[in-house]
Amino acid sequence: MNGRAWTYADLSAIAALEAECFSDPWNLRMLAESFLSGHFFGSLLEEDGAVIAYGGMSVVEGEAEVQLIATAEMYRRCGRGGMILQDLTEEAKRRGAKRIFLEVRVSNAPAMMLYLKHGFRGLYARSRYYSDGEDALVMVKELN
Ligand SMILES: CC(C)(COP(=O)(O)OP(=O)(O)OC[C@H]1O[C@@H](n2cnc3c(N)ncnc32)[C@H](O)[C@@H]1OP(=O)(O)O)[C@@H](O)C(=O)NCCC(=O)NCCS
Repeated sequence: MNGRAWTYADLSAIAALEAECFSDPWNLRMLAESFLSGHFFGSLLEEDGAVIAYGGMSVVEGEAEVQLIATAEMYRRCGRGGMILQDLTEEAKRRGAKRIFLEVRVSNAPAMMLYLKHGFRGLYARSRYYSDGEDALVMVKELN
């Protein structure tokens, strides 16, 4: 693992970065509910004690789903998103997942490129999936 696993004490810093990175961010309560659900795993990277990249997923009955992933704007395009995705993938395998799913806004080319680079492929679109009416692309990666 390159990053370190989330602890409860990280949640407010993650919520703050989430609010910087998304128009429809998860708030602290949503993060806490997922974190405490019993099937959640999160990885994060720090720089000078501050959270600069994070990702989280749930693993239920052999299927993992990436729920969150972001890198602070000034640290992007240096491999950190890829490191987080790698951490999530390795943990999903450790927990016995057969495949890992995620959803991405159809306009989010940087994220789609990240996922394609890391072995995900597009499965199908979900029409008007997001609250602003944008479609989602569902992507999957098979885990050996
Ligand atoms: C998507 C995101 C997490 C990528 O994080 P990152 O730390 O920049 O990712 P990496 O540096 O590991 O990038 C890996 C690859 O992703 C692709 N990629 C990342 N940013 C890109 C961009 N702006 N344009 C095109 N491709 C991009 C490239 O293939 C890149 O590999 P390369 O640099 O060797 O060409 C980051 O842009 C982000 O936080 N965006 C806002 C939040 C978000 O949209 N999260 C995803 C929700 S589904």
